[in-house]
Amino acid sequence: MQRSFNIAFLTSGKSRGSNFEAIMTHLQERNVPIETKFLIITRADAPITQRAEKFGVRYILLDDKNTFEQELLALLNKNNVHLVVLAGFMRKLSEDFLQKYSGDIINIHPALLPKFGGKSMFGMRVHEKVFKMKEKFSGASVHYVNERYDEGEVIAQQKIPIGHCTSAEEIAGEVLKIEHQLYPEVIEKLAHEYLKLHK
Ligand code: GAR
Repeated sequence: MQRSFNIAFLTSGKSRGSNFEAIMTHLQERNVPIETKFLIITRADAPITQRAEKFGVRYILLDDKNTFEQELLALLNKNNVHLVVLAGFMRKLSEDFLQKYSGDIINIHPALLPKFGGKSMFGMRVHEKVFKMKEKFSGASVHYVNERYDEGEVIAQQKIPIGHCTSAEEIAGEVLKIEHQLYPEVIEKLAHEYLKLHK
């Protein structure tokens, strides 16, 4: 029996879940030996739950900030999760949690890190700043998560021209398209690397 690479998704707030959908579609189409154990939501009304249902992924509501990390850690350990995929998770994980969890955690950021990263730089705020600064290029970065916002090692980046964009929304749309390519590819690569090492 082939081993599988176990992943879990982490989202927060009213998460839309377009990256989740792109990743799940890619994994299914390419038959990647990944088992998606669960998806964490922090609000019962998050639109991502509809996408989770579509793919048959179990979602779990953790809406108490005081016990969030403790409950999450227990779930990750119980399900032997190798990789946590942040997909629209806008909070910071504590140093204590990061030390206790033995797997890897990755995030996608909608800009070319280290530019336009850091506290309060997420979602549309990033694109608004990029637009205001009249940047000619933007892109997406997938990186490991550490105790500082957007400062973990970058795994992969894709750059696109945005000089033609006339609004932050337009930049967001262009960047999102490449997020949907880059994130699934990175996860597939990490799965194959893990499975090669743990035959
Ligand atoms: C994505 O654009 C992602 O890069 C961004 O939130 C959006 C989530 O969209 N994440 C951050 O800004 C993290 N700092 P989605 O729910 O449709 O995947």
